[in-house]
Amino acid sequence: MHNALWGQVDEYFNDLISPSDHVLDHILQTSEQAGLPAISISEAQGKFLYMLAGIQGARRILEIGTLAGYSAVWMARAMPEDGQLVTLEFEQLHADVAMDNFKYANLTDKIELRTGSALDTLPQIAKEMSEKNQEPFDMVFIDADKPNYVHYFDWALKLCRVGSVIISDNVVRRGEVINPQSADVNVPGIRAFNETVSVNPCVTSVVLQTVGSKGYDGFMLSRVVA
Ligand code: SAH
Ligand code: DHB
Ligand code: MG
Repeated sequence: MHNALWGQVDEYFNDLISPSDHVLDHILQTSEQAGLPAISISEAQGKFLYMLAGIQGARRILEIGTLAGYSAVWMARAMPEDGQLVTLEFEQLHADVAMDNFKYANLTDKIELRTGSALDTLPQIAKEMSEKNQEPFDMVFIDADKPNYVHYFDWALKLCRVGSVIISDNVVRRGEVINPQSADVNVPGIRAFNETVSVNPCVTSVVLQTVGSKGYDGFMLSRVVA
């Protein structure tokens, strides 16, 4: 419908205030060359996560769903030298492409990539954090398989502190989120997630509907309050 126009508006602002660079371009190119799906967040969304990580003063970030590493690079860049981003990816091919991209971006000191199903790696991370007395995560970005969002949110809460932020992608799905009979297989998972978040007294949340080069979607932004 108006997607072409909103894409142009996205481009207009990207050129002004979130210019791409050769590293980010390289990530999208290698992703496409390797046949990965074109489902990274947009440039503007990347800049938004970068801003959020900076505002939060994040030193430890957890990402669930790496793909080619595009969103991870945006967030890692917002952290101080000794900051750490842990990113979880199920597909070996995606992880291989992402690892090459983290090397290309000179961010291997800051980014730790773990391959495997996130529901297997999250308990390991929790165990290691308590064994090594590591700080909780200041920010979590949930962007993997939608049917498990409810479980990822529970894990995020276990690994965060009061004041941490949890941001979750794809909660609007071109508006399909309000259709309980949606043909989009991801919608029931997203709806269950939205309901879980809404009744959890430990968080306060808001949705940012997003429009632009990636069409209509949205971020759920939650802040841990208890
Ligand atoms: N955050 C990325 C995009 C992630 S796309 C970016 O914006 O650049 C979603 C990713 O989640 C895919 O790479 C997919 O392989 C991964 N994924 C799907 N199921 C998973 C699981 N169970 N555990 C970990 N990663 C998973
Ligand atoms: C799609 C988009 C995403 O951002 C994602 O994480 C998964 C799927 C999609 O457009 O299908
Ligand atoms: Mg997504």
